[in-house]
Amino acid sequence: MHNAALAQLGLNWRYLAFDVDPAHLREAIAGARRMKFVGLNLTVPHKLLAMEMIDLLDESAAKWGAVNTIRFEARAETGEWRTFAALGDSISEEIRSHGFNTDADAIIRSLHEDLAFHPVGTKVLLLGAGGAGRVAALKLASEGVSELYLVNRTQSKAEAVAGQIAKRFSNCRAVVGYPKSSIDLLLNATSLGLKVDDSLPFDQDQFALRSASAVYDVIYRPAETPLLGAARVAGCRTANGLGMLLHQGAQALEIWTGKPAPLEVMRRALRKNVYGT
Ligand code: ATR
Repeated sequence: MHNAALAQLGLNWRYLAFDVDPAHLREAIAGARRMKFVGLNLTVPHKLLAMEMIDLLDESAAKWGAVNTIRFEARAETGEWRTFAALGDSISEEIRSHGFNTDADAIIRSLHEDLAFHPVGTKVLLLGAGGAGRVAALKLASEGVSELYLVNRTQSKAEAVAGQIAKRFSNCRAVVGYPKSSIDLLLNATSLGLKVDDSLPFDQDQFALRSASAVYDVIYRPAETPLLGAARVAGCRTANGLGMLLHQGAQALEIWTGKPAPLEVMRRALRKNVYGT
């Protein structure tokens, strides 16, 4: 999706994937800086590790405790830090890394676009308290969800997230466990569903899908996880995580280029790449 967008924007840049051992992340970031890469995206587990390795953290990264986008910036002759997109070919050797997080906004954008879900005043059941679950929980709480039910295989992690919400977003009631009445959204942020024969990511004796108006699965491959299939049969509105992947990428592209992302070009390229359609 990035290369399709770069072509559309007429930029002679390339987006490439590198497999970096977490033990060498610091060297990889330093190497990219020295080679004057425009920026980087980071994925699990680098998003958390990189927090200690960045010169300047944008509020988006500081707030959610994870960096998924780095923009390199060079000191211009006037003394200001400028993006490479703004500097063109005259990039000095004095370069800093600037860290951002585009995952949290992407969740909200995708929920809005794909499920017509607006968080204010809603009740949400969130499954998973790993990296993705934690960011989703904090962001939903910050966006005005009034009751957030947190369920995770390792309960202590759900309790830790509930504790952070109580401290930072007191308008949201964070409860560890299943809701007793109907909810507006069930969001799966566990990895259960990546394999077709995975069980559902929640306890069916404790919760029934017909109690949820909408179901979102952060997983996008397979396109319909067992959870989304069961939710469709139960009559829920459903969406998978492709929209989240799209929007985190589009926002990262805007951070690097300073231009609006060609969203439809990116969406088409992403669908073709992930689903072949
Ligand atoms: P990510 O960054 O994608 O969220 P992660 O931090 O490894 O990845 O989190 C994976 C999530 O899926 C966690 O909530 C994990 O539960 P634990 O915290 O108990 O590990 C959940 N998960 C993974 N495999 C699971 C399984 N077999 N059953 C239930 N939950 C599972």
